[in-house]
Amino acid sequence: MPAPATIVHVALGSNEGDRHRHLQDAIDRLGLVPGIEVVRRSSFRESRFAGDGPAQPDYLNGVVELRTALPPLALLGVCKALEARAGRRLPAPGNHPRPLDLDVLFYGDECIDSRDLVVPHPRWHLREFVLEPLRELGVDVAARPRRAAPRVVEPPGEFAALCSTWLAGGCVVGLVPTMGALHDGHRSLLEIARRECDRVAATIFVNPLQFGPDEDFAAYPRDLAGDLRVCAAAGVDAVFAPSVAQMYDPGFCSHVAVGGAASGMEGALRADHFRGVATVVARLFALARPHRAYFGEKDAQQLAVIRRMTRDLGFPIHVVGCPIVREADGLAMSSRNVYLGPADRAASTVLHRALCSARAAFARGERGRDALIARVRAVLATEPRAAVDYVELRAEGDLAPLPPGPVDGGRLLVAARFTDGARPVRLLDNLSLVPGPLEP
Ligand code: PAF
Repeated sequence: MPAPATIVHVALGSNEGDRHRHLQDAIDRLGLVPGIEVVRRSSFRESRFAGDGPAQPDYLNGVVELRTALPPLALLGVCKALEARAGRRLPAPGNHPRPLDLDVLFYGDECIDSRDLVVPHPRWHLREFVLEPLRELGVDVAARPRRAAPRVVEPPGEFAALCSTWLAGGCVVGLVPTMGALHDGHRSLLEIARRECDRVAATIFVNPLQFGPDEDFAAYPRDLAGDLRVCAAAGVDAVFAPSVAQMYDPGFCSHVAVGGAASGMEGALRADHFRGVATVVARLFALARPHRAYFGEKDAQQLAVIRRMTRDLGFPIHVVGCPIVREADGLAMSSRNVYLGPADRAASTVLHRALCSARAAFARGERGRDALIARVRAVLATEPRAAVDYVELRAEGDLAPLPPGPVDGGRLLVAARFTDGARPVRLLDNLSLVPGPLEP
């Protein structure tokens, strides 16, 4: 019995060589492939190149409607072969002129999300040079599915299923766990993930497990609409934004206990904080099973705890630490910065100044662990608004305590409280004594 035929729409474009011949040739050759029948084609029309990069010649575009028994990836293979035959270099450099571009817009009503093929095409509805030919072919464009970008998912099971689809489609999946109130620091995590992965999921979840009873769980800044705009601009594919009840059902009672890097500093001041962080991150890892997960170096102790937990529990996930993003005056970006009153905001730069001062002393030859810590404390002491919680010099990476005496490097970590704003704010910062390639 012949395989059932599916109606498919393929967009055609060319802006190199004999554009008309390339498009007509592609349609003629599609019709010669066993299992493909050309139903009709739109007229061809000119369109201006509107992408990024250097100016390019105008395009000639159209859409062809096919009836096919080929499965989607086989059809894609035919399209790629025709592009190559027309002289297109493959793998194709992004946004360069091309003799032939064939994009599968729709494959019946199927939704496909694999590394090589996403159907419906994610941007079909944004392109007039696709919309017009589709209308000409009588396609009801208002009724065709459009992909929300990013797709917002709340039930954990749905998030897990979405990530499974990506994984099954051969995608490299990146996860960016956040508590929302996204700022430029988060934006840089999303952008790094976008560059390195085929699919990027951001999670937005203010995790009650990592807040103590007297901490700011209820007051933590929340702005889902703003966060979705940031995610859309960064090209995030999906946002997982569950409620607390969805994330932790009423019987939830299993936690990840952490030691090592979780001791001292934040671990000493915030009982169970890292237990809550490790628990939610382990749960997110189990749901998404990403290849790569992205965390900011601003929370250096959290990063060390997560790295250790990932190794200890055997998650096959590469934990990527991303450089701190700072305001122009040096303040490390944090969702809680919005709560600083004007005087504290001005005073808050003292953290970075103190860290830089010790780093400068190290560069001049100071090697004493305690002398370097004293250098940080001396600068902090010039700012009476900063109530210092700790200043520590720890080993790079695992943040193991360093013994007194000379050091040949390490990371300085500091936390201080500021209290003149809407509510008290604790700020954390850290700096490597030896500048890295991404940290001036
Ligand atoms: O760094 C954060 O925003 C949170 O601690 C994290 C890693 C998303 C876990 O809730």
